[in-house]
Amino acid sequence: MKQVSATIFSSSELMPGCHLICLEAPDIAAIARPGQFVMVSCGQEPTLRRPLTIHQVAHSGQLHLLFSIVGKGTSWLSHRQEGETLDLLGPLGNGFSTEPASRNLLLVAGGIGIAPLAFLAQQALSEGKSVSLLLGARTDAGLYPQRLLPGGIETIVATEDGSTGTKGMITDILPDYVDWADQIYACGPLAMYQTIATENRQGRVRKPVQISLEVRMGCGLGACYGCSIRTRRGMKQVCLDGPVFNLDEIIWQEVKI
Ligand SMILES: Cc1cc2nc3c(=O)[nH]c(=O)nc-3n(C[C@H](O)[C@H](O)[C@H](O)COP(=O)(O)OP(=O)(O)OC[C@H]3O[C@@H](n4cnc5c(N)ncnc54)[C@H](O)[C@@H]3O)c2cc1C
Ligand code: FES
Repeated sequence: MKQVSATIFSSSELMPGCHLICLEAPDIAAIARPGQFVMVSCGQEPTLRRPLTIHQVAHSGQLHLLFSIVGKGTSWLSHRQEGETLDLLGPLGNGFSTEPASRNLLLVAGGIGIAPLAFLAQQALSEGKSVSLLLGARTDAGLYPQRLLPGGIETIVATEDGSTGTKGMITDILPDYVDWADQIYACGPLAMYQTIATENRQGRVRKPVQISLEVRMGCGLGACYGCSIRTRRGMKQVCLDGPVFNLDEIIWQEVKI
């Protein structure tokens, strides 16, 4: 884990209320794995360090962060400009795991849930695996731009209002792709995870599913226990033991943001 002062080289609003910040952070980029996150200082107060997933990594040592504005910290971040620096701690957390024998990876992204999955796709494609992405959003305006996805990915889109792709939730089309997949990775709102968990129990998604869990974090380093949750495998700290968990480990009543 490194603490670095990273220079912003671009910052833009990609979708309404959703920003992409690209930074020079070679020390973190060199060792980051898909699914890991960084703690970002969002202002002068030390309490304003916020967890953000590593969205993509470029070979030249660049780190990309994709975030929605939901409160004070992310609002502050959204106003940062090219040339300013951000204080980052990372990479943190466990990251996704892929079996060497797995050939076909199915990624399921609900809205901003594309944040950790783009990096996973990037790595899997570089290892010669096939990647299909089910990309969902409420409307066309909220869809992550496909031109920013790694080349070679097959993308299937669904929007709730039908403005692009299939009309409906991304979980509606998930069962159609399950047979093809060796492993499934999902990131999105809690309701999406709960739907996949139900489909899993009912036998429509009979494959291992890894998810990235977002809970409130204090330190991000295993020191404050603020992120502890009870799972089917005992108490876990999301910042150290996660944020990636197997879907069937999670007791949903225990997950509160
Ligand atoms: C491991 C991890 C990775 C994350 N990666 C991303 C990412 O890549 N992109 C992204 O947009 N968000 C991500 N989040 C969520 C992000 O950390 C929160 O949105 C952020 O901390 C909110 O800070 P704030 O000061 O803007 O809001 P606050 O003022 O602190 O809170 C405003 C509201 O935001 C929500 N919120 C606060 N903290 C969290 C949290 N940790 N998780 C979810 N919702 C929260 C709550 O509803 C809260 O009421 C991640 C969270 C975790 C735990
Ligand atoms: S956030 Fe402090 S222990 Fe996990």
